Amino acid sequence: MAPGSPAARRRAAPCLLAALLGLHIFAITLALEVSVGKTNTVMALNNSNVLLPCVFTTCIGFQDLVFSWYFNTTELIYQGKIKNKATEPTPIWHNPRVEFVGSTTKKDNNISIVLNGVEFSDAGKYTCHVKNPKERNAQHNATIFLTVVHKMVETDNTVTLIIVGVVGGLIGLLILFMLIKRVVLFIIKKTQDGKKECLVSSSGNDNTENGLAGSKAEQKAPPKA
Ligand SMILES: *[C@@H]1O[C@H](CO)[C@@H](O)[C@H](O)[C@H]1NC(C)=O
Ligand SMILES: *[C@@H]1O[C@H](CO)[C@@H](O)[C@H](O)[C@H]1NC(C)=O
Ligand SMILES: *[C@@H]1O[C@H](CO)[C@@H](O)[C@H](O)[C@H]1NC(C)=O
Ligand SMILES: *[C@@H]1O[C@H](CO)[C@@H](O)[C@H](O)[C@H]1NC(C)=O
Repeated sequence: MAPGSPAARRRAAPCLLAALLGLHIFAITLALEVSVGKTNTVMALNNSNVLLPCVFTTCIGFQDLVFSWYFNTTELIYQGKIKNKATEPTPIWHNPRVEFVGSTTKKDNNISIVLNGVEFSDAGKYTCHVKNPKERNAQHNATIFLTVVHKMVETDNTVTLIIVGVVGGLIGLLILFMLIKRVVLFIIKKTQDGKKECLVSSSGNDNTENGLAGSKAEQKAPPKA
C-alpha cells in the first residue's frame, strides 16, 4: 500500500493523534485496531464452511502478539502467536473444526479463520481479540455474528424481485393496453370522420359517384388536382 493512499492515511490518523497528544493512554487505546470488515454478520448454510474475517493494524508494529477467537464471549476456539511482521502465526490452541486462513506477512494482518462443518449450534457471536506486548499489552477486539440457515434466504430477494417484476410487467402491460386502445379508438374515430367528410363532400359535389360504398369514397378523399 502506498503511504499516501486514503486507507493508509485513515490508519495513520489515530497514530498521529496519539503521537501529537503524546499521551500513553491515547496511544494505548487508539493504536491497535481490530476489524471484522464492513458487515458484522455472516450467514452460513448448515454443513458448509464459513470464513470469519478479522484483520488488525498497529502503529508501531508488533512483537509476540497473541490473538484469540472466542465463541459467545467465553469459549476459546482459536489462539495463535505471531513473533513479528516477518513471520506467520504459530497456533497455540485450536478447536479441531477451526482452521487459520489468514496471513500476517502481507500488507494486512489477516487473522481470519474458517469454521468447518457449520452446525445450527454454531450460531452466535465470534470475537476476534488481539493483544500486543509491544504496545504495553494493548488489547482490542471485534465481533462478528454468525447465523446458520437451511437455505440461503437470498430466495427472499428473488421473491421480491419476482413480485416487483410481475407487478411492473402488469402495470407496463396495462399502460400498453390503454395506449393501444387509445390509438385504435383514435384511428376508428378518424376513419369514421373521414368517411363522414367524404360522404358530405361527395353529396355536395353532386357527383355521379354519389351513393357509392364508403370505402370507395374514402379512397377519393384527398383531392389530387
Ligand atoms: C444439516 O445438514 C445435515 C447434512 O446435510 C443434515 O443431515 C441435517 O438434517 C441438517 N439439519 C437440519 C436441521 O436441516
Ligand atoms: C483474509 O484471508 C482470507 C483467506 O485468504 C481471505 O478470504 C480474506 O478476504 C482476507 N481478508 C482480508 C481483509 O484481506
Ligand atoms: C451463543 O449465543 C447465541 C446468541 O447470542 C445463542 O442463541 C446461542 O444459543 C449461544 N450458543 C451457545 C452454544 O451457547
Ligand atoms: C472486547 O472489548 C470490550 C471493550 O472494548 C471488552 O469489554 C470485552 O470484554 C472484550 N471482549 C473480549 C472477549 O475480550
